[in-house]
Amino acid sequence: MTKHILAAALAMITGGTLAANLEAGKKTATEVCVACHGVDGNSPNPDFPKLGGQHPDYMGKALRDYQSGARNNAIMKGFAGMLKAEDIANVAAWYASQPAVLTTHR
Ligand code: HEC
Repeated sequence: MTKHILAAALAMITGGTLAANLEAGKKTATEVCVACHGVDGNSPNPDFPKLGGQHPDYMGKALRDYQSGARNNAIMKGFAGMLKAEDIANVAAWYASQPAVLTTHR
């Protein structure tokens, strides 16, 4: 019984911290990423990868890799470096929630 309550409480706590905050993510996108990726992540400029509808775990990994240097890009190292783990989760969730315009070319 106690075990169940503990597990439920734990789930609530971790769920609360890990749940992405879309509004906070939108704020980061609007204030920091907008110049290149746009607020919706669908920049018409081919120099900037489209992020709208991209998988959040992919974007999270990309951003952590820019931070660590595992993925080497001078521009993104600077911008990813500004983000805390929480910011990454939020901004990735925001862009993932935007319409995808990714296409397959055959
Ligand atoms: C000054 C322009 C610029 C800004 C501002 C910028 N980016 Fe980028 N971003 C780029 C470029 C250029 C690339 C491609 C780099 C590469 O080749 O790895 C990129 C790549 C990415 C990728 C990897 C995409 C993929 O398909 O692999 C993610 C995720 C990303 N940016 C997120 C962000 C976020 C989140 C912000 C805001 C905190 C941000 N970027 C701000 C220019 C920018």
